[in-house]
Amino acid sequence: MSEYYKFLPKIPALPDNLIAELLDYIYKSDLSQLNTSWWAKDEKYQNRRVKINEVEYTSSKGILIDLQPKLLDFIHNNITRDYLKSAAIITDRVSPVWGAHTDTTRRFLILNIIEPGGPNVITRWYQEKDKPVFRFEKPNVTPLDYSNLIELEKVCYPTNRWILMETKVIHDIQNIMSDRIAINVGLFAEDTDRLIDSPIYKVFG
Ligand SMILES: [Fe+2]
Repeated sequence: MSEYYKFLPKIPALPDNLIAELLDYIYKSDLSQLNTSWWAKDEKYQNRRVKINEVEYTSSKGILIDLQPKLLDFIHNNITRDYLKSAAIITDRVSPVWGAHTDTTRRFLILNIIEPGGPNVITRWYQEKDKPVFRFEKPNVTPLDYSNLIELEKVCYPTNRWILMETKVIHDIQNIMSDRIAINVGLFAEDTDRLIDSPIYKVFG
């Protein structure tokens, strides 16, 4: 069993009509107007470049889009109302690489891949040489050169499965060839504790 992600089979799959409505909303929208990502305004992330095997890439980022009421209802009814932020996220098409980082605010992420962004999009977790696996530095860790990163695990996530992901171990996404769209439910550690303890949801069982 993976240390870094876990499928959550007790959460129902997203109904096709909700997925279709979300995609319709995204593709009919001006994404630059919808973006609610704090990092869209953070200079540190505007032109972040990472070096992998001596090749430099500008790191992709995500454009955060508020969820429509029906999708939020689905999350509230089937997963939780206790979360830090719940949104759709679409990659900004800058490059095939979303550079290595730990997440800034959330302790865990529940995600559902709607569009994978290509047939071989890989999420990887890494340990930085001579550093602990779990990185709780604030605001976060953003290594620029991969020569000090040791791969721990990788996965090609399937679509329309609910997945719990570790965000405080350095991770990245590679091989993004087209729009990668996911639904994200960001959790504080306390939210996760509440989910584990919840007699109703048992989503971690
Ligand atoms: Fe992340």
